[in-house]
Amino acid sequence: MLKAIGSKVDLLKDEKGKTYYYFVSDLLENELVLKMNDFIQHGDTTCFQHCLNVSYYNYKICSLFSWNARAAARAGLLHDLFLYDWHTYKPDKGERLHGFTHAGTALKNASENFYISDLEKDIIEKHMFPLNITAVPRYRETLVIVLVDKYCGLLETVIPRMKKAGKVFHRISVRKRSA
Ligand SMILES: [Fe+2]
Ligand SMILES: [Fe+2]
Repeated sequence: MLKAIGSKVDLLKDEKGKTYYYFVSDLLENELVLKMNDFIQHGDTTCFQHCLNVSYYNYKICSLFSWNARAAARAGLLHDLFLYDWHTYKPDKGERLHGFTHAGTALKNASENFYISDLEKDIIEKHMFPLNITAVPRYRETLVIVLVDKYCGLLETVIPRMKKAGKVFHRISVRKRSA
């Protein structure tokens, strides 16, 4: 089963996910893209799942406005293709922190392995705006990822914590009832 966070659509089976899957199926089967499963992005969410979340909501929003949903989906899936554990990453002397450099690393990896259009390049390279204040989005699809990336990051951090808190609350209430 392949789903974006907060969505019920099974992207491998459901009719609703068909166009999205058609746009990104080659990337979803690619070894390098799947390698993102080896790294955690936020909480319990892997880098692959985070990129899938961002890619799917990029696609949904851009489809809604008849913008370039294909580029939004593909660049969304590649936007964090930096391929290392950023929690333990130590920049070399004079090198900037992960937050400032990883978009460039992801773009380099993506460009070396896939055909990347100018729009997709802009989406990947500038998704960290406004942290990267000089990487100003040139296209509306890039503005979409700027917002969607932060929204997904928030969901990925908050939802698992709420689930854990819910389980603890449930255990306490069961104990109280049986006391
Ligand atoms: Fe990122
Ligand atoms: Fe991201």
